[in-house]
Amino acid sequence: MCGIVGYIGEREKREFLLDGLRELEYRGYDSAGIAVLHQGEINYFKASGKLDNLIEKTKDFRSINFGLGIAHTRWATHGKPTEINAHPHWGEFSFLIHNGIIENYMEIKKELQSDGVVFLSQTDSEVIVHLFEKFVRLNFTPKDAFKKTIESLKGAFAVLLISKVSPETIFFAKNAVPLIIGKNSQNEIFFGSSDAPLIGFADEVSYLEDGSFGWASKEEIEIFKDDTKIVPIFKLLNSSKIYAQKDGFRFFMEKEIYEQSTVTSETLMGRIKDDKVYLEELSGYDFSDIDEIKICACGTSYHAALTSSYLFERISKIRCSVEIASEFRYKEPLMDKKTLFLVISQSGETADTLQALKMAKKAGLKTLCICNVDNSSIVRISDATILTRAGIEKGVASTKAFATQVLTLWLLSLYVAKKRDKLDKKMCETEMKALRSIPSVLKVDEEIHEKLHRLSKRYLHGHGFFFIGRDIFFPLALEGALKLKEISYLHAEGYPAGEMKHGPIALADSTLFTIALMPQTMLYDKTKSNVEELSARDATILAISPKEFTLADDFIKTQSYEHPMSEFFEMMVITQLLALEISIRLGNDVDMPRNLAKSVTVE
Ligand code: AGP
Repeated sequence: MCGIVGYIGEREKREFLLDGLRELEYRGYDSAGIAVLHQGEINYFKASGKLDNLIEKTKDFRSINFGLGIAHTRWATHGKPTEINAHPHWGEFSFLIHNGIIENYMEIKKELQSDGVVFLSQTDSEVIVHLFEKFVRLNFTPKDAFKKTIESLKGAFAVLLISKVSPETIFFAKNAVPLIIGKNSQNEIFFGSSDAPLIGFADEVSYLEDGSFGWASKEEIEIFKDDTKIVPIFKLLNSSKIYAQKDGFRFFMEKEIYEQSTVTSETLMGRIKDDKVYLEELSGYDFSDIDEIKICACGTSYHAALTSSYLFERISKIRCSVEIASEFRYKEPLMDKKTLFLVISQSGETADTLQALKMAKKAGLKTLCICNVDNSSIVRISDATILTRAGIEKGVASTKAFATQVLTLWLLSLYVAKKRDKLDKKMCETEMKALRSIPSVLKVDEEIHEKLHRLSKRYLHGHGFFFIGRDIFFPLALEGALKLKEISYLHAEGYPAGEMKHGPIALADSTLFTIALMPQTMLYDKTKSNVEELSARDATILAISPKEFTLADDFIKTQSYEHPMSEFFEMMVITQLLALEISIRLGNDVDMPRNLAKSVTVE
């Protein structure tokens, strides 16, 4: 899951490529590199660490007039995040960048080594450039050499290759990871892992299909799939780039927490009228033959799924099961055609979720996705899509995407309930009232934020955090713990409050921090007893509740809402801000936490 940018044309290439990488840095940021082919010569630069290191290294480099450029930001899969493993990789006359994993790279590498090829890096990617050069040396034309190279690869790849043997061409291939090609009226050609780097430059883009490959020059773009030349479908590209600024916030994550109120109104827009949920996306959908919903997702999206499983069973009265996509893939799952297969993904590119979706499609199940990125791989494959409308989320730790996922799932549970005739008038009114209030629930309370800022200094040590809650507050506890561990690097777990006594309570002492989610609308007394058990063992308790709780060491008082989902969303913001403030105090890079990437397109 790396980021790729490519360019053909007369524009100054360094600036375009580096700006493009900046847009894609969320996909991986442990090293970066560029290569530019101009007047028959190739200049290249690589740097380990964040993109700023590459910017510094290339500060005196300019490339005007016609030329080609490729650029890459890496998230290491094979080989450490060192400069030598950074892309581009090269042979004698060609340079290559690659996103994905070449599964059969070892066999290819051994064969090339026995031919005398010396490898510089530990990556799987480097085999591609040497294989291409081997075929060129065997007198294949560059196009045939590239075709033969791609045919030899197994795995997931988005590849751009430039070579002195064809100095006006970028060779490209795509399988199972995203690659987009764009063009404009000035005859410029662009490549990107997403459309973000192309916005403002390309007029139209084509989302390449799996198994396609080809070559582009200023004269022509040729794309092939299964030995057949295909005519690419180009779509107009939106030209707005306003999302790119932090608007005065310290981090994108903070800005995105504050945006939750606005983006959730977008999520609801046009979807509730006269106490009825409208999901136009599902107009052709027949729910009469569905008796179960199965949801697959990863990480935060999995937590949204888990939250919704309570809603589907409670509101829609339909069985609902949730699975982590990476587990589902290999368990040889039984799939029933009466099951609606729902996947949830912010990015729409998560490899495990995508694969689970493909399995369900193959088994003939009706599929639906809830996604934030239109035209992403998951959206393109699903039978239907409900977009969450969160806008681009830049912080690696997901916040507003989670809020909009949960809200969309709640809408969906009401929609399904209505279709199944399970929603009486009174319940419908209560739910609609609560739904409509969520954007205001999500307005950040500055006083609470300030209090969390002050409290955070007491939570920088200890031997771990337990976030506990019951019912829908259990998945929220999981999500709170995930947020904290992602950006603070402190150990945190989410647990059902009632489960603590079955083992984890053994850890309780004064440096075990318990974040207790104690809503008044959902099993308050039960949760309270569980928290008391922890307090009796001297655990340090931060209680979040509308009801005063005398045993708490620290207390955040929430509003006295009447609906559990309102309490859920208010507590969600509090756990997000707590993680943010702890991370900032620890001096961490909140938006780009170590070892992570925004879009996980590898297994
Ligand atoms: C969220 O904070 C994480 N960075 C991560 O768990 C993420 O939710 C997961 O990788 C799934 O991503 P997706 O929603 O884009 O499929």
